[in-house]
Amino acid sequence: MFENLKAQPADKILALMQAFREDPRDDKIDLGVGVYKTALGVTPVMRAIKTAEHQLWEQQTTKAYVGLVGDPAFSDAMINLILSDAVPRETVGAAATPGGTGAVRQAFELIRMANPDARVFVSDPTWPNHISILNYLGMETVTYRYFDSETRGVDFNGMIEDLKGARAGDVVLLHGCCHNPTGANLNLVEWQAVIDLMNERGLIPMIDIAYQGFGDGLEADAAATRLVASSVPECLIAASCSKNFGVYRERTGLLMAVSQDASQRALNQGTLAFLNRQNFSFPPDHGARLVTMILNDDALRADWAAELEEVRLSMLGLRQSLADELQRLTGSDRFGFLAQHRGMFSRLGTTPEMVEKLRAEHGIYMVGDSRMNIAGLNAQTVPILAKAIVDAGI
Ligand code: LMR
Repeated sequence: MFENLKAQPADKILALMQAFREDPRDDKIDLGVGVYKTALGVTPVMRAIKTAEHQLWEQQTTKAYVGLVGDPAFSDAMINLILSDAVPRETVGAAATPGGTGAVRQAFELIRMANPDARVFVSDPTWPNHISILNYLGMETVTYRYFDSETRGVDFNGMIEDLKGARAGDVVLLHGCCHNPTGANLNLVEWQAVIDLMNERGLIPMIDIAYQGFGDGLEADAAATRLVASSVPECLIAASCSKNFGVYRERTGLLMAVSQDASQRALNQGTLAFLNRQNFSFPPDHGARLVTMILNDDALRADWAAELEEVRLSMLGLRQSLADELQRLTGSDRFGFLAQHRGMFSRLGTTPEMVEKLRAEHGIYMVGDSRMNIAGLNAQTVPILAKAIVDAGI
């Protein structure tokens, strides 16, 4: 049997992570996988997580199963964090999942179950694993224009034009904030126009929100998701706690199915539970429990929000200093987009050959499409990267 297996393509982001680990150079710089790092290059356990873990260790008396969709208290806390009062709680079906990727996977399965003919429209580019999972599930994927390689902003007209090619029942996958991999985002006026188009054509939005708090702040980063949820008849929202709670390896995510009609909720909820049971049964609890404890305790929540804000501001500072340094070296504003982008990533907008040159000659690792993890920089490496970009003639 095993001899029939075919080698699968390596995930480019994870392969890059491995290549970086194996590179013996001391001065190498990792701008690859989307993991937050301090100036010292470490990915810390957040203070509130440590405190909650300590409390949990003292208080928890059992590791017995919780429930197929996880603890309802986790769903409530996350729905509140992401949607606030945008929609009535009784319209939201929700299930805890293994990380944001688990939520994305379950969302795709639910779409395929509900409408096998639905095509999923994804931004060009999008997080590569979106396409990989859709392909794996045999679902039809259509790309819509998103990134303008001249301005390094959103090609909004192209996006709208391409979405006009969608049929009623097709799904439009949107990044709630901090677009991965480009860092370029829609403004709220543009979001409204996309919502109007989706409503006109009967398209169903699916939002992937994995970086709430990394862009313009916890509330601002949720604004587009709230606007969508409150303006459409139904939508799916896949959320991750990996980045904003720093619980990457705990695999903590939530899938929400929002319908305006509250009577639909029981069916949605049952379907989410069924899908969990088929794929992995009970979702992981540890990370979800810590997140719930933090969100439901005023002191822990305040400390978490404060640390998250420090993280956000440090990334914004790095963006600004990289843009300033490139401005100083080139005498032009053509890298000003780096300060405008939001979230962990920016797409530099250069060729795979140039990306390879930066890796080979300078030990600078970024994804082949020139996506850089801004959090991988620090005050020492910003000038090194800027000089390497200029020396390479980018
Ligand atoms: C990334 O895009 O680097 C992260 O979302 C990590 C991953 O799983 O790819």
